[in-house]
Amino acid sequence: MVKKTIISLIAMMLVLSISGTGFAFEPGNERKGKYLYRSNCRTCHKDGATATPLGPNNKTQAQWERVFAKYERLDCAKEWEKFSETDRTDILTYLHSHAFDSPTPATCD
Ligand code: HEC
Repeated sequence: MVKKTIISLIAMMLVLSISGTGFAFEPGNERKGKYLYRSNCRTCHKDGATATPLGPNNKTQAQWERVFAKYERLDCAKEWEKFSETDRTDILTYLHSHAFDSPTPATCD
């Protein structure tokens, strides 16, 4: 009985340590998120002509989480309407994985 509890505790800790690699949300498909970002966000957030140039490393992971939690407040909120919740999670996964304070910061180029 005790042994079983210990084993399930260890299993739980393993699962948590694998899935809990810095994500404060359920991560989605990073590759798809990158594609969606480049074809739908980067179009405007590129050279400053239309909007602030933005890439993953322009914000911290916490900042990106806040952007996606309250995207309705952005000036471009209307542009987000075509995305499903899954799309948004995928885009956030991409930006979050390469954010300023992530292990692998990156621009969008
Ligand atoms: C049609 C052009 C357009 C598209 C497409 C677009 N945006 Fe924007 N976005 C803007 C404009 C204009 C602003 C307000 C001016 C600014 O801050 O650059 C803005 C503001 C923002 C801001 C706040 C400014 C900042 O630097 O924090 C964020 C974050 C943002 N957009 C992210 C996104 C993301 C992510 C997508 C894709 C899901 C997206 N935008 C799609 C035009 C666009």
